[in-house]
Amino acid sequence: MTGLLVRDLAQVVTHVGDGAPLRGPDLAKVAVVEGGYVLVGEDGALLSVGAMRDLPALGGDVQELDGAGLSAIPGLVDCHTHPAFAGDRVHEFSLRAAGATYEELLAAGGGILSTTRATRDAAPDELRRIVASHRDAMLGHGTTTFEGKSGYGLDRETELAQLEAVASAGGVPTWLGAHAVPPEHPDADAYVEWAIADVLPAASRVAVAADVFVERGAFGIDTARRYLRACASAGLALRLHGDQLSEMGAVPLAVELGARSVDHLEATGADGVAALARSDVAGVLLPVAALYLGRPMPPARALVDAGAIVALATDFNPGSAFCESLPVVATLACTQLGLTPEEALGAMTVNAAHVLGLRDRGRLAPGLRADVVLLEAPDWRHLAYHLAGDVVHTVLREGRGVLSRA
Ligand code: NIG
Ligand code: FE
Repeated sequence: MTGLLVRDLAQVVTHVGDGAPLRGPDLAKVAVVEGGYVLVGEDGALLSVGAMRDLPALGGDVQELDGAGLSAIPGLVDCHTHPAFAGDRVHEFSLRAAGATYEELLAAGGGILSTTRATRDAAPDELRRIVASHRDAMLGHGTTTFEGKSGYGLDRETELAQLEAVASAGGVPTWLGAHAVPPEHPDADAYVEWAIADVLPAASRVAVAADVFVERGAFGIDTARRYLRACASAGLALRLHGDQLSEMGAVPLAVELGARSVDHLEATGADGVAALARSDVAGVLLPVAALYLGRPMPPARALVDAGAIVALATDFNPGSAFCESLPVVATLACTQLGLTPEEALGAMTVNAAHVLGLRDRGRLAPGLRADVVLLEAPDWRHLAYHLAGDVVHTVLREGRGVLSRA
């Protein structure tokens, strides 16, 4: 591979410093270079980033890309998605539009369980094709790294097929073994004991983390603790879906177990905010899910102001957030969550990479992966400003062009 120079960019933006995660005021601290360049080395890592007037003399074989009229941001990191599903839930979307609730549909055997039936019927190759196509849609919105959960198999074969489909598409796999209780098990405890014995040993060889849906109609705190402790013993990092519809104790459990994150938090109150702020557990906020289900937005401003680690993600899934776009999430962050564009960017780059345990990306800085998104905009804040706009022009992953609208 030859080197690559992206020259004459309208703006280049990245968070200052090199630490992660970003808390409090640091989440908003970006450096914006007007009239800049990004230089990628032959190994796909960034060599330097700066103002055109400081561009060093280039040796060797360097390809050039004209960045006039474009703004460069770090590749976006979607740290919470559910892309390994077959079928769709458009019928339930209509029922909800007519007044049915998410919980009612799940309790009636629909929701997650209806996607589970469709996903169990899909062959592993079909799941691989489906995840790759969602990965490509995410790339089109500037996502260069994605996490993908299982949780629509809830049997051994399909859970493993989902994890392998995510890994083969280049995603970071999370075993969401405790997403819902499938009908062949008498209750949540019996299902979790079975999953720990029969699925965890193989799942822990593919997955990086484990996740559980702590909610009425899904898994209670004691069952979640049992599941997560077993997963931690198998070497997995811990994540929780918590406080989405009701506050059941997911935040204290996450703190007790040293989890990487609690995700959702739409129902989190002041005690939960304070507990997260005192901890190293990230709050992953999913405003599309709140919007889609007509729920209150999570307390993003309070979390950031209290010093909690805040990340943003799409929650892409067929039921509660059928949306692959982190730029849409950025718009919601700025219009519904009370965050600034700078904070939104930090929450879907540096902090999202931190949630996934990835230290080699999240900023435009020498030595990091050359994951770069060029926005068709004179100011990088169009990322959030242009609601559902076609703002992504070019995407580089490890210095290679993987998307270009040019
Ligand atoms: O994060 N809440 C649980 N899991 C997903 C939704 C999954 C589904 O409805 O299929 C979520 O919103
Ligand atoms: Fe989710």
